[in-house]
Amino acid sequence: MSDRVTVLVTGAGGPAGVAIIRSLLRRGDVRVVAADMDAYASGLYLVPAADRALVPAGLAPGFADAVLELCRREDVDVLFPTVDVELPVAARRADDLAAQGVRLASPSLDTLLVCLDKYALAQRCAGVVTVPRTDLLSPAAAEGRSFPVIVKPRSGAGSRGISLVSTPAELAARGADNAWLVQDHLPGEEYSVDLIAGMDGSVIAAVPRSRLRVDSGVSVAGRTLADRELQDTAAAVARAIGLTTVANIQLKRTADGTPALLEVNPRFSGAMPLTVASGVDMPSLTLDLVLGRPVPAHVPFREVAMVRYLEDVFLDPAEIIAVPGGELGDAVAAGAGAG
Ligand SMILES: Nc1ncnc2c1ncn2[C@@H]1O[C@H](COP(=O)(O)OP(=O)(O)O)[C@@H](O)[C@H]1O
Ligand SMILES: [Mg+2]
Repeated sequence: MSDRVTVLVTGAGGPAGVAIIRSLLRRGDVRVVAADMDAYASGLYLVPAADRALVPAGLAPGFADAVLELCRREDVDVLFPTVDVELPVAARRADDLAAQGVRLASPSLDTLLVCLDKYALAQRCAGVVTVPRTDLLSPAAAEGRSFPVIVKPRSGAGSRGISLVSTPAELAARGADNAWLVQDHLPGEEYSVDLIAGMDGSVIAAVPRSRLRVDSGVSVAGRTLADRELQDTAAAVARAIGLTTVANIQLKRTADGTPALLEVNPRFSGAMPLTVASGVDMPSLTLDLVLGRPVPAHVPFREVAMVRYLEDVFLDPAEIIAVPGGELGDAVAAGAGAG
């Protein structure tokens, strides 16, 4: 039996946070400390009362210091940030974390920054895989294009602000703005590929899936697909961005059926339970990777379909973490077993 390690998972209320917590608890050799900004985050209540914590929002000025303090207090070995906005905040403090003996289970800051800027990502991957032509928003972006085109924020999430623009005149009316992109419209089937790479960047597994039904941005029905072309395309993207640990790579087919790059979410996806069920336990493998333990060079997966339902966690009302004064400003507002 290997030594017991302590892992801190932030964003414990999100589907990725819950998937990571459940995966790591199944191992039996991991103590999971679960953190979230919200006292009602269900993932908090999957761990013993002493291992729950509230932290400020990822964009709040106190977030990084609160997490560092929590890591010190709980003697954390590995930090799994699961919320988009927390990723670069944590990666910028990687040295401070390392000084406390904490390893970060997320891609490097360079990889994160490329993924969070869809213009930089398109430039990095052009010539490596098929990338839809991507320009900064301006009337000149209409030149040589066929319409419709997609206009979307350069750094966006949750499909916010995305529109289909039908004519050059309509595009010209949008003016010029470097915070927005014009992209060729990809008309084909859309896929998500969960991919895990070693600390040397070698691809251990790429698991494509189609999202059969999506509710509020989360896949509620889906299936994995053993499609070599999708796996190879995602692996090429991962190498181009220097990926280590886990990312979710989104692809969509062009009119002639070639898979093209849409975007990379440099984190665990909300559909991670499907990828785990297909045979690739990415949270568990990532823990071994960042601890420097041996991990197989390649992990196979099988085709499996998923439907999902809400699950209930029942508690003594006194267990719901008290938030002092109803405020979350306090560094680590409530930790161990607050009742
Ligand atoms: N170039 C494109 N062609 C066709 N559909 C697109 C294109 N870009 C985005 N979309 C659609 O919009 C959705 C969200 O776009 P995406 O780039 O993934 O941004 P977000 O970060 O908001 O998820 C995609 O899942 C896809 O359905
Ligand atoms: Mg997306």
